[in-house]
Amino acid sequence: MPDSCGSSLLQTSIGPLQLANPVLSASGTYGSGWEARDFSPLSRVGALVSKTVTVKPRHGNPPPRIAETPSGMLNSIGLENKGADYFLAETLPRMKTLCPRIVINIGGEAVDEFVELAERFCQAGVDALEVNLSCPNVQEGRLLFSTDARMCERAVAAVKRVANVPVFAKLSPNVTDIVSIAKGAEQGGADGITAINTLIGMAVDWRKRKPILGRGIGGLSGPAIKPVALRMVHEISRAVRIPVIGVGGARTAEDVLEFVCAGASAVEVGTAAFVDPAVLVGVVDDLARLLAGANTSIAELRGSLAAPIAAQASHAPTQGACPAPQRGAEGAASR
Ligand SMILES: Cc1cc2nc3c(=O)[nH]c(=O)nc-3n(C[C@H](O)[C@H](O)[C@H](O)COP(=O)(O)O)c2cc1C
Repeated sequence: MPDSCGSSLLQTSIGPLQLANPVLSASGTYGSGWEARDFSPLSRVGALVSKTVTVKPRHGNPPPRIAETPSGMLNSIGLENKGADYFLAETLPRMKTLCPRIVINIGGEAVDEFVELAERFCQAGVDALEVNLSCPNVQEGRLLFSTDARMCERAVAAVKRVANVPVFAKLSPNVTDIVSIAKGAEQGGADGITAINTLIGMAVDWRKRKPILGRGIGGLSGPAIKPVALRMVHEISRAVRIPVIGVGGARTAEDVLEFVCAGASAVEVGTAAFVDPAVLVGVVDDLARLLAGANTSIAELRGSLAAPIAAQASHAPTQGACPAPQRGAEGAASR
């Protein structure tokens, strides 16, 4: 395989963060990268994104925590992790040996926790922070930060005040209007939006009359959610001025290019790594080949999706603030 890592066709930036290529690991699906280091040279991916780190250790949810579904999987890990002290002492130094760009995903149950984590990780020297807003805010009745534009804005603004690296706000798709939440994050000063986290779902064992997951519900990921993620990335990228990182069901270089065309500056690959832990580097190689073959680049392709026919024909709004439906999505749009 050619060393496509330095290819200028692949270069991208997420706000101030320059990347050799647009392929990132998705939080929580790759551990710290250390577990997968023997499968492929992770120095060749655009950036490694950590699992969510919280201030204190978390035991996570009761098992079973994973259920396979057609075209995807459900998980209810519950942000299990060993806490920031352990991560800073043990995990971060290892991650830094794997990849030149490290993004730390932080989670908190109060704005102060996000701030503490941001301060500590910035001091430790990381390339960017990804703020996992799918966390309950204990000061606001355990409402998720990601479900309210003002809460999202406040959390992001507090992190931005102390961070000396780019800050990306990771949004949940489990809302009525993700664009309004993205605008809240932008208002708070986010340098980029990561979209999307998992979709809430459920798997049932009817013989036992029980849900399969120990917690009952979990987050759906994998190819099943790609159309939802593409739609949200596109809507967000048209509504905000900051870059968008696409995530949700990407497995191949073709998938990555679809996200880029829809408006993403970079793409995280998650569940696909459970099937093939070497997938990220494979996607980087395939991307270089596809772009060269099509005589284009990530920079040129980004956001180049043609306006849908319906939007060209009429400026009539569809559902609230959402843009008109995409070509080929007529069935969904008519519901
Ligand atoms: C097992 C598992 C654990 C995850 N843990 C986290 C996490 O700790 N923090 C986070 O922000 N997202 C987490 N996610 C969500 C992913 O980062 C990603 O947003 C989602 O899985 C959609 O991408 P995919 O379809 O490529 O997996 C997790 C997903 C899975 C499948």
